[in-house]
Amino acid sequence: MDLFDTPDKEEILKHVVLLRGFVVPVENEVLPALATVITLAPLRHMITPGGFAMSVATTSCGDLGWVSDKNGYRYAACDPLTGKAWPAMPASFKQLAKQAASMAGFENFEPDACLINRYEVGARMGLHQDKDERDFSQPIVSVSLGVPAMFQMGGFARADKVMKLPLYHGDLVVWGGESRLRFHGVLPIKAGSHPVLGECRINLTFRKAG
Ligand code: SIN
Ligand code: FE2
Repeated sequence: MDLFDTPDKEEILKHVVLLRGFVVPVENEVLPALATVITLAPLRHMITPGGFAMSVATTSCGDLGWVSDKNGYRYAACDPLTGKAWPAMPASFKQLAKQAASMAGFENFEPDACLINRYEVGARMGLHQDKDERDFSQPIVSVSLGVPAMFQMGGFARADKVMKLPLYHGDLVVWGGESRLRFHGVLPIKAGSHPVLGECRINLTFRKAG
């Protein structure tokens, strides 16, 4: 930890900032808003370009949503499941993402996409880079809710050494700047339970995609 960091703000690598428990004070706004979004745009297991169903179930809110199908990964203005625009990004989500980005040193973050991933026991996310966005000067803001996860933050090649970081309910990680294109992933989720979310972990990832 850096000498000037507070205990709940830690720069774990250059431009990778962990804000422990940052979401807890606003979870009473964030969790109901999340439930509304999921009602309007249900979680579903998207198909990778290679033809496999993802182990995480996903949905989105905001002007753009992340989609995957046999044609590849991309952002789209409409939910392919409902044919309608993605639900608006709740004000509590946007405020949280902007405050966190600012705390991490990224001012004027204007997220237009929030990807929602639900991990049940055993679900994982292989190492990947977030590179479907237009502007890599904008950070990624990632919120962890529900049961814990072991997050992996790697380097700029898939085979680079990874740093393992346990993430708990309410933790938030921001990465950008020279770390924006680091490989990252999530190890298979272990059994557990959260009083509101049950036996799953939910990750919200805010991006400026368009
Ligand atoms: C992602 O990289 O899309 C998800 C990361 C996470 O679930 O923590
Ligand atoms: Fe990612």
